[in-house]
Amino acid sequence: QFKVYQTMTDPNPDRLPVVYEEWEKRAREVLEDGPYHYVAGGAGGESTMNANLEAFNRWKIVPRMLRNVEERDLTIELFGETYQSPMMQAPVGVQSIIHSDGEIASAKASAEMGVPYIASSASTKPMEEIAKEMGDAPRWFQLYWNKDPEVTRSFLKRAELSGYSAIVVTLDTPMMAWREYDLKNVYLPFLIGEGVGNYLTDPAFCSKLPTSPKEDPTSAIMHWTKTFGNPGLTWEDIAFLKEHTTLPILLKGILHPEDAKLALAHGADGIIVSNHGGRQVDGAIGALAALPQICGVVGDKIPVLMDSGIRRGSDIIKALALGAKAVLIGRPCMYGLAVAGDQGVAEVLQNLKADMDLTMALAGEKSVRELNSSILVESK
Ligand code: FNR
Repeated sequence: QFKVYQTMTDPNPDRLPVVYEEWEKRAREVLEDGPYHYVAGGAGGESTMNANLEAFNRWKIVPRMLRNVEERDLTIELFGETYQSPMMQAPVGVQSIIHSDGEIASAKASAEMGVPYIASSASTKPMEEIAKEMGDAPRWFQLYWNKDPEVTRSFLKRAELSGYSAIVVTLDTPMMAWREYDLKNVYLPFLIGEGVGNYLTDPAFCSKLPTSPKEDPTSAIMHWTKTFGNPGLTWEDIAFLKEHTTLPILLKGILHPEDAKLALAHGADGIIVSNHGGRQVDGAIGALAALPQICGVVGDKIPVLMDSGIRRGSDIIKALALGAKAVLIGRPCMYGLAVAGDQGVAEVLQNLKADMDLTMALAGEKSVRELNSSILVESK
């Protein structure tokens, strides 16, 4: 900690921010209206986005004293792998609208910081390029389930071949939500060819096009708009994924305890409690508010992770104390990317990790694996 203060005596006014709100403010300054609101905004009146933050605020930590917290352990284990901390980068698509290096920069920061990277189906760079950047560093692949089963199968295969070690299936986005700012700004990145990198390089996707995407990018994007979402899916379709990959499958976007039961019944290997950062259903429950009941249903059968609204170390401690094995970080990393590319993302991750470590120690806890609700109270 003293080392942190010592290295921060740099008088340079361009020094990277520490305060979360300043990262967001600086990102606002460098991004145009369209991209900024696409990243920062939520669905409808943004009540879910606010509920995410309120849910964290409702839980209070009750610190314990004199428990020897000199040595601390931030490592976790998931699907037989040990990860350096209980943080991952959430899958975020279309990152070239935030920074010209896009996903390559955030994947690089992840590799450097030992934070697993979850590459989005909607990345601007193909998953193979991201994997190449990361070398042996841990990574998972997030699947948007295409209407064309051959494309879905091809994505799973490509992910396996390029060293992704788990598949995150996002269930909450069979279509894009009502996002008022994006509609007002007439801004949807995909329609200008951003976030289709995995599709335009996919043999199954390209085999359905009359001409190659290089020759006719507009038709390729039009084909993408027809096949992207798959609102006809049901729980029975999970069997298709299990047939076509040997990797662990996590279902992202679970908020209802009955859906957690169905996830177990259909053989999910993990659950990510999430409301997509408040970007899909307006007026939904805060993700943290949904977590305790879901952990109650799932018990120790499969790991439960969570995201949506993590901004500081104390948020991570609360999520873990309520039963999450790990958390995913979305917008904070993207503000880091906007402000300073890979270095900005690395700085955000490093700060979150240090904040989490200090907060855990000061709460009298020395291992993220041992956190439980005995250090929390809920204020109504
Ligand atoms: C997302 N998210 C997301 N999720 C996903 O499964 N696939 C994706 O391609 C995207 N794309 C995406 C773009 C942008 C700009 C944002 C902000 C978010 C959702 C993401 O994985 C995560 O659930 C939320 O970002 C978590 O909430 P916070 O941390 O942003 O509050």
